Amino acid sequence: MDKFIIEGGRPLYGEVEIQAAKNAVLPLLAASILTDERVMIHKCPRISDVLNMIQILNELGCKTHFDQDTLVIDSADAASHEIPSALAKELRSSVFMLGSVISRFGRARIAYPGGCDIGLRPIDLHLKGLKSLNVKISEEGGYINCSCDRLTGADVLLDCPSVGATENIILASVKAKGFTVIRNAAKEPEIADLQNFLNKMGAKIAGGGTSTVVIRGVEKLGGVEYTPMPDRIEAGTFLIASAMCGGEITVKNADANNIVSLIHKLREISCKITVKNDKIYIASKERRSPKLVETMPYPGFPTDLQAPMTALASISEGSTLIVENLFETRFKHVPELIRMGADITVRGRTAFVRGVKRLHGADVVAGDLRGGAALTLAAVSADGLSTVTDLSHIDRGYSDFEYKLSGLGAKIRRVRI
Ligand code: EPZ
Repeated sequence: MDKFIIEGGRPLYGEVEIQAAKNAVLPLLAASILTDERVMIHKCPRISDVLNMIQILNELGCKTHFDQDTLVIDSADAASHEIPSALAKELRSSVFMLGSVISRFGRARIAYPGGCDIGLRPIDLHLKGLKSLNVKISEEGGYINCSCDRLTGADVLLDCPSVGATENIILASVKAKGFTVIRNAAKEPEIADLQNFLNKMGAKIAGGGTSTVVIRGVEKLGGVEYTPMPDRIEAGTFLIASAMCGGEITVKNADANNIVSLIHKLREISCKITVKNDKIYIASKERRSPKLVETMPYPGFPTDLQAPMTALASISEGSTLIVENLFETRFKHVPELIRMGADITVRGRTAFVRGVKRLHGADVVAGDLRGGAALTLAAVSADGLSTVTDLSHIDRGYSDFEYKLSGLGAKIRRVRI
């Protein structure tokens, strides 16, 4: 297991380049099995969630290799419809392989992906959507078995705008018979990216990124070469790092339109932010509290930035109410922040944060991906020495995290323990 050793308290200066979006790449990998022609995904981050998904494709019979930072996938010989259970459990979002595997093979089998670090993570909307498309589903012995003679388009209403369910239904319907309409679809930009990718393959999809997505089934999809959108959560993480540490940084290869809710919040607390094309420039000195941070489906404040924002609120002047509306247990970082001197009270999905002047160093443990990033930012901004252990969570979603922070002037290094 690895840990970070961090000597905090220094402002951040310089530039940081953002990776391709984890939550865009994962559905693109699932989509790659919908064609037996070559798929190339440029700037593919080698984070463990992506590497696990690539392993799943390999076990289904796809051939994959990296050519520098381009991932090349050839699914011509894909033959298995069974998504390996160990990997499916490791990577919850593999559940949206169901749609593409059913489309390719007419059937799919996956171990029931249980809950995870941040909540119950039900998949009822995924299964309900697939059933609407004429998929027969049986659940026994902890496995989900799907079969379908002919995927048939349908008018599907999602009870809540689930990102994964929206993606799963798109993947299942791109080669179905007739039209599919997804109502109350998730509007996250990663869905528009999946639409662009699939349309380049020959799909006929419109409305991706809005609450109504229309898919006209086509016979065949061809190969594609694609560069995924930049990771809006990584970009937001570094903007929050700058707000916490002070100094001036430029975030490159970022799309500010995808994190408007965060940029507004940071301006509210007196950060100076300017945007020029794909660069976001931020300078911060003092920090007023954001008062209220309430996570919502896109375009509301993203749940994936709640933990870093809680860390920022803990050293902002004044009090902040943090409300986590998306997931049941997404405050694992709070007890660890309290060990660093934060003053936070959690009741259910609400955290009340009283800002303190500064945090002090401590030995803390990452409990999940975004909480681990939040603890790292807290340690980089705190006075004194900290360690952050169980970095496997962070490595799921951030490539070269410590190198990027070091490049901005943080004193952080990774050691094996
Ligand atoms: C995606 O997860 C992201 N993961 C998550 O990012 C992100 O936090 C989440 O969307 C919300 O934006 C990927 O894209 C790989 P949901 P997903 O289905 O699709 C409920 C990260 O840190 N729900 O939109 O699993 C669910 O309980 C990760 O990068 C059902 O009730 O999220 C939750 O309350 C963490 N039934 C809400 O919807 C279902 O069938 C949103 O979940 C599905 C979801």
